[in-house]
Amino acid sequence: MIGSLRTGRLGPRIDLSYEAGFVKQTTQPPASRAPEPASSRDWRRDEAWTIVLAAAGLAEHAAEANQFAAFGRTNDGPLRPVSEGHPDAVIAWCPGAGWKPALPPDDPRHALIDLYLPICSATIAQPITVGHLGQSLDGFIATHAGESQYVTGEENILHLHRMRALCDAVVVGAGTVAADDPQLTTRHVSGPSPLRVVLDPTRRLADHYRVFNDDSAVTLYVCAKSLAREGETRFGRAAVVPVEDCADGVDVTEVLRILRARDCHRIFVEGGGVTVSMFLEANLLDRLQIAIAPLLIGDGRPAIRLPARTALSDCHRPRYRVFRMGADVLFDCEIGPDRTDGISQPDAQPPITRVI
Ligand SMILES: NC(=O)c1ccc[n+]([C@@H]2O[C@H](COP(=O)([O-])OP(=O)(O)OC[C@H]3O[C@@H](n4cnc5c(N)ncnc54)[C@H](OP(=O)(O)O)[C@@H]3O)[C@@H](O)[C@H]2O)c1
Repeated sequence: MIGSLRTGRLGPRIDLSYEAGFVKQTTQPPASRAPEPASSRDWRRDEAWTIVLAAAGLAEHAAEANQFAAFGRTNDGPLRPVSEGHPDAVIAWCPGAGWKPALPPDDPRHALIDLYLPICSATIAQPITVGHLGQSLDGFIATHAGESQYVTGEENILHLHRMRALCDAVVVGAGTVAADDPQLTTRHVSGPSPLRVVLDPTRRLADHYRVFNDDSAVTLYVCAKSLAREGETRFGRAAVVPVEDCADGVDVTEVLRILRARDCHRIFVEGGGVTVSMFLEANLLDRLQIAIAPLLIGDGRPAIRLPARTALSDCHRPRYRVFRMGADVLFDCEIGPDRTDGISQPDAQPPITRVI
């Protein structure tokens, strides 16, 4: 039974539907509209985010009910069931496909909602693991010195916080903790902070980093079993999780198994390049989000690195969606094992289009 729950986008031309910094490329009839005032954009953004959070909280119930169900907004936050085609409908659960936006594509909330619905649709039976990197035009996530704040802009940072809020666990590598001393919380958005997971196979980190000491969220410290001391349970305030040694450090498949056993069904691999690449190479990512910033670093810490392939036909060419985030452009790629590789356009588009 599904009930309401209080939780958490020139002739034909290409137009851009704005969603508070988010623009999803769609085909629209010509329209001359004055820019929306910032306060109204903020309100729309908050409104869209409220819907996304509520959808994330409702997914398990909706999947169990296994029937089409449309939901509309109420004034005080939760979503309420509405009939199919109801004018107040904002999202709908479609069995086998998960959440779909029920708003028209030109609704200012549509792009933000559309971006997050694949994450919100994940359930115990259909878990999801998403990797994200913010990279320069030339494919680097930081300088050689480790400076990465900020490659991408404010909208992408907000996006990271939203992803944390939607996911049960956020995973980072030792290199990220050493360079950034991140908090990995959701302090810029509403929604819960996730379980924090630090992969430090060779135990190069000291325990003074914030993620091991603040009490804003629980942290797991994952290291190679051979380096865990007998009876060791704590590293700072973090729980020590020894994992079988493997040639490359820790086995990320085992890490994922441990997280799933802890009821983490939505997992966000936030960086850095080495860590996201490990999950990608192990075929453990369902989606890979790459935010590209208009920046040339020249040389630095690389984004995705996979074993070299000789033939282009052996390389991934994932299905993708494109969102503009402030000055950055986000590629949201589907790369799960059951996805068919192949060039695909999310919307019917002329071959060459000026979007900005
Ligand atoms: N722009 C962005 O999106 C973004 C995001 C995050 C971080 N950053 C920046 O990127 C840099 C860090 O990225 P990075 O690629 O150098 O490092 P990283 O991925 O954060 O951490 C890599 C290190 O973590 C350990 N590690 C993680 N997973 C492992 C596994 N499965 N098996 C073995 N070892 C594993 C290894 O440590 P050992 O070498 O000790 O074995 C490895 O060298 C920093 O400068 C940070 O500021 C940028």
